[in-house]
Amino acid sequence: MSARTRIVGWTLAVVALALSVSVFATWTILLVRLEDRVNAELANEVEKLHWYAKNSKASPPALLEEYLKVNAPDRHETFFVILDGKVRWRTYAEPPAALDTDRALVARMAAATEPTWDWAPSTAGLVRWAVAPVVADGEVEGAFVAIVFYDLERREVVEAVRVLGLTALAALVLAGAAGWFVAGRVLAPVRLVRQTAERIGGSGDLSRRLVVLGDDDVSALAATFNHMLDRLERAFAVQREFLDDAGHELRTPITVVRGHLELMGDDPDDRAATLALVTDELGRMNRIVDDLLVLARSEQPGFVTPGEVELADLTVEVVAKARALGERRWRVDEVAEEQVMADRQRLTQALMQLVANAVRHTVPGDLIAVGSAVRQGEVKLWVRDTGPGVPEQDRERIFERLVRGTGRTGAHDGAGLGLAIVRSIAEAHRGTVRVREANGGGALFLISFPYEEIPLTSPYEN
Ligand SMILES: Nc1ncnc2c1ncn2[C@@H]1O[C@H](COP(=O)(O)OP(=O)(O)OP(=O)(O)O)[C@@H](O)[C@H]1O
Ligand SMILES: [Mg+2]
Repeated sequence: MSARTRIVGWTLAVVALALSVSVFATWTILLVRLEDRVNAELANEVEKLHWYAKNSKASPPALLEEYLKVNAPDRHETFFVILDGKVRWRTYAEPPAALDTDRALVARMAAATEPTWDWAPSTAGLVRWAVAPVVADGEVEGAFVAIVFYDLERREVVEAVRVLGLTALAALVLAGAAGWFVAGRVLAPVRLVRQTAERIGGSGDLSRRLVVLGDDDVSALAATFNHMLDRLERAFAVQREFLDDAGHELRTPITVVRGHLELMGDDPDDRAATLALVTDELGRMNRIVDDLLVLARSEQPGFVTPGEVELADLTVEVVAKARALGERRWRVDEVAEEQVMADRQRLTQALMQLVANAVRHTVPGDLIAVGSAVRQGEVKLWVRDTGPGVPEQDRERIFERLVRGTGRTGAHDGAGLGLAIVRSIAEAHRGTVRVREANGGGALFLISFPYEEIPLTSPYEN
């Protein structure tokens, strides 16, 4: 069911309920009032007769005849006078139904010794009657009868309520039509958003945008939707670019390997040389693929699994491993005594990337130092060398994927993934990595992340 149908449906249901309740209430109130009015009318007739009798000197029959002459009945009313048990005079106007011919009724009325009220059936429906006997010296001398045709009065009430009901129904239909129209207008922008979203979903064309009109909730929704599309489009563009670059990076070693294999002759020396070269290229490809996989994994949860890390151990271990990479003056600058919550393997991986870079940009005899410290609530891990350093203009961009430096040492066989990996490991520890000039002109790469103390646990707990 569409939102429009739902809104209009609910509104109509509520309005219909309200209208039915009010029509029903009106109907009940009018009926109660009608009965009150009929009773009051009859009481009034009896009252008037008493007053008339008090001010008249005539004998009871003459009094009743006179009274009937001067008192004209209202609509749906009729009067008559009973003398000696029989109807003697009747109002002149023809009543809707003749009750004076109903013997049993007349006999009952004639027998009344005091004012009496009751209901009686007639050919014109239910009637309400009242009889006022005229008593002289304890004897009933005659009676005045007033009759109201209750059902005829009631029919008028029914007619009025019917008109009210029909009006309510017409109002309901009108409200429905108006509601349908207004809901359509209000929901039109939402429908536009949905259709555009569907079209984008169907075609995969992320360059489409919604038209933002006005400044209401719907246009805010459209603007948010457009922002989301901007971000998606950018993310996809970056990813596509990265895939292109990665593909290109892998194609080069493949081409090299193919070229060498095609040109390989029968000479054993030549073969050995080609084999060495091909193995080297394949090793390089292997490293690139591994690095790409690490980077892909870094975007997913669970990239780092924190545990207790002894910073001193970590620092010393990295230097020990690094010694195998080349003949340099290896040094431990400083070691932190603290234990921290971090991922030991990922931090080792990051430091090894930095150390490998340092080796690549230095020559035997140069100094490479590794250090760790906890300062101002931050864990600091660094690698510095006495190589040429990183030129000012490269210090931001070398951390991007597949970006190599422009300095004189930039041209080598690296893919430009190492520092991107270091950065994703630092960021996974809610930290950063930066490069600056070391004392003596080399590069100093510094990883920092918030120091998270390891809570002391009691030896009695497990
Ligand atoms: N210690 C350093 N001294 C001078 N320049 C450096 C140093 N470390 C990195 N760079 C510069 O930063 C660039 C990017 O380094 P990164 O580690 O990301 O890539 P790479 O070493 O070229 O390739 P890969 O690490 O993928 O094999 C390098 O090309 C180099 O220009
Ligand atoms: Mg590197």
